[in-house]
Amino acid sequence: MVEAKPHWPSPEFAAKANIKAAEYEAMYRESIENPEAFWAKKAQRLHWFKPWEKVLEGDFSKGETRWFSGGKLNVAYNCLDRFLNTPIKNKAALIWVGDKPGESKTYTYQQLHKEVCRAANALKNLGVQKGDRILLYLPMIPELAIFSLVAARMGVIHSVVFGGFSAEALQGRIEDAKPKVIVTANAGCRGGRIIDMKNNVDEALYNSSFKVPHVVVINRVAADTHNYWKAGRDLHWNDLIADPDLSFEFPCEEVDAEDPLFILYTSGSTGKPKGILHTTAGYLLGANLSFDLIFDHKPEDTFWCTADLGWITGHSYILYGPLSNGATTLMFEGIGTWPDPGRFWQIIDMHAVNVFYTAPTAIRALMKASPKFLQRHNLSSLRLLGSVGEPINPEAWQWYFKNVGHEQCPIVDTYWQTETGAIMITPLPGATPTKPGAATLPFFGIQPVLLDADGKEVEGPGSGYLCVKAPWPSMMRSIYGDEERFFQSYFSQYPGYYFTGDGARRDADGYYWITGRVDDVLNVSGHRLGTAEIENAILEHTSVAEAAVVPFPHDLKGQGIYAYVTVKEGVPTNDQLKQEIIELVMHKIGKIVRLDVIHWAPTLPKTRSGKIVRRILRKIAEGEFANLGDTSTLIDANVLKVLMEDKAKYH
Ligand code: WT7
Repeated sequence: MVEAKPHWPSPEFAAKANIKAAEYEAMYRESIENPEAFWAKKAQRLHWFKPWEKVLEGDFSKGETRWFSGGKLNVAYNCLDRFLNTPIKNKAALIWVGDKPGESKTYTYQQLHKEVCRAANALKNLGVQKGDRILLYLPMIPELAIFSLVAARMGVIHSVVFGGFSAEALQGRIEDAKPKVIVTANAGCRGGRIIDMKNNVDEALYNSSFKVPHVVVINRVAADTHNYWKAGRDLHWNDLIADPDLSFEFPCEEVDAEDPLFILYTSGSTGKPKGILHTTAGYLLGANLSFDLIFDHKPEDTFWCTADLGWITGHSYILYGPLSNGATTLMFEGIGTWPDPGRFWQIIDMHAVNVFYTAPTAIRALMKASPKFLQRHNLSSLRLLGSVGEPINPEAWQWYFKNVGHEQCPIVDTYWQTETGAIMITPLPGATPTKPGAATLPFFGIQPVLLDADGKEVEGPGSGYLCVKAPWPSMMRSIYGDEERFFQSYFSQYPGYYFTGDGARRDADGYYWITGRVDDVLNVSGHRLGTAEIENAILEHTSVAEAAVVPFPHDLKGQGIYAYVTVKEGVPTNDQLKQEIIELVMHKIGKIVRLDVIHWAPTLPKTRSGKIVRRILRKIAEGEFANLGDTSTLIDANVLKVLMEDKAKYH
C-alpha cells in the first residue's frame, strides 16, 4: 500500500508550538516509564484545595483506577474562580453564537462566574445538594454550559442528554440517573427549525418510573410550544432568577479527586445505553492538558469546537478543556448548512476563529457545496484545524487542508472515545508530521497496543484490536450503577487491557490508522449507535418478525444504516410499511437515527444456535459478494443467495 507523503508543520508554526518536535519523544517516554511522576508534575496545572496523597492506585486489570487520592479540588474553581484576580477576568470565556445569523452573546470569565454562582443558589433553593444528579436536556444555549459548571461547583453529578434524543431515549436516561432536577428549554432552535423539548420531557416523565421533583424550564423562544405545565413540578427559570435575594456568591464544594463529575450515556453493543461515569481530578487534568498541547493553546486564540455539549467532545473541548486553560471558547447553537453551507465560514470570519475543530461528516457535507460559500469569507485567522469522530477519508482531509486551511494549518486527527475522556491518539501540531487519514501517535501517558485474535500483542507494523495497556487519568471509572457491565464491556475480552472496540493498523512509522468498530456499534455521521438498540426499535413494529442492522459505506455519513427486516407471515411489504418503520425508529431513539436502507428479507442467516450472522449480512450490504467468509456454520446458506440477488433492488 502506497502511503501519502507526510505533511510537516511549517517552520513558523513549529517554532511557536507548545510542544516542539524535539520534545515529544522524551516526554512521551517519561510519561510511559514513570507515569506517576509525570502526572504529578502535570497536576500542578490545576488548583487544589488540598494536595493528593497518592498519584495512582488500583488494579487496572479489574478496571479499577484511582488518581490523586486524598486530593481536594473543584472543577468550576479551576474553570472560573482562579482567573478572577488575573487579567483573564475580563477576557471572553464563552462566545455564544445563535442559530439565527447575527444573534450572539459573550460572557467574560467574571460574568460567567456570577451566572454560575447565581444559578447554583437557585438550585440549592430547590434542595439540590452534593452527590445528587441533575439532568440537562437543553439546546446549545449558554445555560447548558452554565448549568454544567453549576453542577461541578456544587459537587452535583451532571448528565447532559443530547437535545436530539427522543422522549423515550430521555426516559431511559432519567430512570437510570434518577435526577433531582431536569433543566430544559421550552424549545430549541436548530437549522431554522423549532424543536419541542419541554414536550419530550413531559412525555418522558409521564412514562417514567422515577418521578423527578423539579423541571426548570428556560425560555429559549418567546412563545411556549409545550401544552402541559405541572404546577409544583415545573418552574420557569425566569421566575427563579427574578428572586432579588438570590446571591451572586456560592462557595465551591471541595470535592474528592475521585468524586463523580458527570455521567454521559453512549451506545454499546447491547441494547441499553451505558452511563459512562467520569470523576473529577483525572478527567479535568486529561481535558486540560490535551487541550493545551493538542490545540496548541495561545492566550489570544479563539477556539471553536462544533460539537454539541450532549457529546463527550463538547464536554471536554467546548467546556472543561478550554475554560480550565483560561481560553476563549465558542459555542454554536445551529448547524453548518443553515441558512446556507457558508455558515461555519461566516462564523470563523466574524469571530476571527484561530483553531477550528469539527467532524469529517461536516467536512464532507460542506465540500459538496459551491466554492462561493468559502470564497465569500476571510478565513485567514485560522492557524490550526482538527477532526474527530470517525476516520477522516483522505479526500476530505485534502479538501479541508487546501480550502479551509489554505495549506497553512496543520490538521490534528484526534482519536478518542466517550470512555477515554480525552484525546488518546493524535498528532501534536508542531511536532508530528501528519499523513491524511492517520490519527498518528499516542498522546502523553497513553500506551496503545494492537492485539491479534489470540490476544497477543502485535509488534511493529500490523493490524489488530486496539487496546490500552495502562491506566490514564481521564479514563472512565464505571458504568453508572453497573460495575459488572463496566468490567465485562471493557476489561474482560483481553485480560489486563482496556478494549476500545476499534480495530487499527500500525504502519512502519508507528502511526495508528483507525479502521473502525469491530463490535456491533455503528458510526453514523460521527454519532455512535448500537445495532441492538436500533433492532429493538424496529422490532416494536407489530408487523415485524425479525431485524438485523449493519453498517454500509455512505458518502456523507461515513456509515449508513442498513436494516434487514423479516415481516410476520402475510404482511405485505410496501413503501408505507417502510416509512412506518423509519419513523418508529426516529420516534424511539431520536431524529439522528434514520434508516437508509430497509431490505425485506424472507429469513435471516443464522447459526445452529440461532444467532443471526451479522458479519455476513454486512458483507452483503457492502456488496462484497465474493468474500463472504465462513458460511459453514449456517443452518441454511441458501438464504444468502436470495439476499444477494435482491440486494440491487434496495441499494
Ligand atoms: C468512537 C467513539 C470522542 C470522539 C467523539 C466520538 C470513533 C472517534 C476518531 C478518529 C477514527 C474515530 C471510534 C471510537 N472515532 N474519533 N479520529 N478516527 N475513529 O465519541 O461517541 O464515544 O465514539 O468514534 O470508533 O471508538 P464516541
